[in-house]
Amino acid sequence: MPMAPQDQTLEDRVVTPDPLKEIAEIEAEATAALEAVTDLAALEECEREAFRSKRSRFSSMYQQLGSMTPDQRREIGRLMNELRSRLETIADTRRAELGTTARAERLAADRLDLTEVLPGRLAGHLHLVTQVREALEDVFVGMGYEIAEGPEVETGWRNFEALNIPEDHPARSPLDTFYVDFSEPWSVLLRPHTSPVQIRLLQRGVLPIYAVAPGRTYRKDTPDSTHLPVFHQIEGLVVDRGVTFADLKGTIDTFVRAIFGEGTRSRLRPAYFPFTEPSAEFEMTCVICGGEGCRTCSGVGWIELGGCGMVHPAVFEATGVEPEEWTGFAFGFGIDRIAIMRHNIADLRVMIENDVRFLGQF
Ligand code: DAH
Repeated sequence: MPMAPQDQTLEDRVVTPDPLKEIAEIEAEATAALEAVTDLAALEECEREAFRSKRSRFSSMYQQLGSMTPDQRREIGRLMNELRSRLETIADTRRAELGTTARAERLAADRLDLTEVLPGRLAGHLHLVTQVREALEDVFVGMGYEIAEGPEVETGWRNFEALNIPEDHPARSPLDTFYVDFSEPWSVLLRPHTSPVQIRLLQRGVLPIYAVAPGRTYRKDTPDSTHLPVFHQIEGLVVDRGVTFADLKGTIDTFVRAIFGEGTRSRLRPAYFPFTEPSAEFEMTCVICGGEGCRTCSGVGWIELGGCGMVHPAVFEATGVEPEEWTGFAFGFGIDRIAIMRHNIADLRVMIENDVRFLGQF
């Protein structure tokens, strides 16, 4: 309500001549400023300047209420309180908007970078010994053999007696073989070779037999570069009508070439095993020097791989196979040894140390 000039005292002269216009201006100015701010700090500053600070245009207008007539004071005071609450509403709305934006920006900045490139999945692979065992199995399956298996805990009968190994043979000593405390003393053991699987195959009574039996074997050996107390062998057994020593020789030659390459040759040297007669050790040309002679083969050019021979009639007898009708050959050798020779590894012990830096190379 405009005041009549004659009502003005000296003090009244500082009173804004047109409070309604002033209120409208304060509102327009403050609203525009509040709507223009772009962050929360600026919003607070703007609120202070618009109506909270004592030095604000709003406050100085408010202070003038005291110099107004009671009617004016009531009227202008009400208008200003209404203005304050409108400005507060605008500021609150703006605060909520800016808060949402700030949160969104913070989230965007902190967001997990899901596009990061990882070095591929760390998948394991088969142990080198298993790889070589499977390669050997493939060669023999290719020649028509079946893969047989026997238990690692075996009877002394299958491991020794049935294989024609005499009572006083040094291999039967508990210094060489691990015995299991089960049943009759010294009757159950951890097999020191895969040859007892020959007995299991013959006991099946299904002939002919063309089989290889790979598996784990145990001996009381102190680990060194060429021995492990836990190692692997593969046993071969062929029983058919008219099988000859020449078949044995041809079979050894075929597998040696398949595993070590076409240029590799094999040879047999006379030897003795109780379960074969005649018996032989088979050797192949040295993988390092090709037969010239070097440190690996101790200068002879040949490396011994395993034992073999024609199945002894005593083995047929122990398992009920008619030796007049059937003949056969057998062979056995270490898989771990084949693995280290195939890859030119100096020490057998790496096979059981399980160092992934070594295993990961194969
Ligand atoms: N079992 C023998 C060993 O562990 C290797 C062996 C020799 C296996 C002659 C055979 C064989 O089948 O006929 O030393």
